[in-house]
Parts: sequence; structure tokens; C-alpha cells
Amino acid sequence: QRGHLRLSVATTANSFATRILSAFSKRYTGTSYALDVTNRKSLLGQLANNQTDMVIMGKPPDDLALSVHPFMQNPLVVIAPPDHPFAQAKRPISLQRIQAETFVVREPDSGTRIAMERFFAERGIALKTGMEMTSNSAIKQAVAAGLGLGIVSIHTLELELEVKRLMILKVQGFPILRHWHVVYCEDKRLPPIAQAFLEFLTGDESKHLLAQHR
Ligand code: PGA
Repeated sequence: QRGHLRLSVATTANSFATRILSAFSKRYTGTSYALDVTNRKSLLGQLANNQTDMVIMGKPPDDLALSVHPFMQNPLVVIAPPDHPFAQAKRPISLQRIQAETFVVREPDSGTRIAMERFFAERGIALKTGMEMTSNSAIKQAVAAGLGLGIVSIHTLELELEVKRLMILKVQGFPILRHWHVVYCEDKRLPPIAQAFLEFLTGDESKHLLAQHR
């Protein structure tokens, strides 16, 4: 019931991570929390320098000595403004047609960017990338303003879909299926509160909370 939990999460995971943390903190009321919401590069740096107990992120590199627990799917989707010509497509849009579009993309270190580049490279598609932006909200604003199409985790999209500011395009081969992971250093002895959080996050109890996220 006591202790201090240092948790760091990818900005992309922030919406559901704070909801889980809120439910957990109601159970462990004597605990204090430090939550850092940051990018993938900084998350890997924090793990290397023991600056955090655990991290929620996409897949970390295979060559690091980390304990890695997948706990939820993380589908990446193509987004467009509702008035885009592709918006009315009845059938999935082919990757050849997608190739002619300009994409607003995340920074090179981002998990989303790495996954999208791998997806298109494996299919021999050279994507036209336009502006590069370091946050999902900047990508969403840019796509809504007509600067290009975007690829983001579905977990960043709740509000924009609800108010119809953006829409998800049906594109051949999409969504790109990724997973969210809880990650900590392999040689780290987790403090009891961090162990409890790991069990909460990967256990049945948080399943209904996570199910609210598309
Ligand atoms: P991001 O996603 O780095 O694109 O924000 C999180 C991750 O894949 O680790």
C-alpha cells in the first residue's frame, strides 16, 4: 500500500496509461507517483540510466537486456480529413494509390515512424514524406488542415473521430498491427509497488478498462 512508483510512458500511450494509473492509484492510496510522458528515444535513455521503474512503449530494440511484457494491441491507421477524395472509397485503397499521396510523419526515432517505414519498405513502396513532426497532436492538426495523410496509433484518436475532424481510411494491408509493452531492465529488482502495477496492467482487472480503447 506504500511506496513510490516512477512510470514513464510514450506520449502515444498517454490516454490509456493515465486511465489505468487512475484506477490503480484508487487501490494503492498510500503510494506516490511520478509519471513522465515522453518520446521513445528518451524512454530508452531512462531505462539505460535507471531513471524510471518501468516504461510503457511500443516494441523496444531486441539487443537491449530488457524484460518486455506485451499487454495490448496497438493498431496503426491511416488518417485523413473527412473531405479527402479517398474518404468515400467503398473498397480498400491500394498501396499504389497511397504512394501518390504526401504523408505528414513523426520524427525518425518514433516507434510509429519505424513501423510505418518497415511496412512500406517490405512492400516495395516509396512513400512521399512531407513535413516531419514530433508529436501526434501536431500530426493530427496537420492532417486536419490538409497538409497530407498521416499514420498514427488508433489510441491517439478518440476525440477527433467523435467530432468527425478526422477519419480512418480503409487502406490495403492496414491497420499495421503492433503491441504495447511494459518494459524494465532485466537486472532490476522491481520495487513491490512496481510489481503490483505490472500485475494490475497485465491482469484481468485492467482488461475492461483497456477494452474501452479501440
Ligand atoms: P511513438 O510510439 O514512439 O511513435 O510515440 C510509441 C512507441 O512505439 O514506442
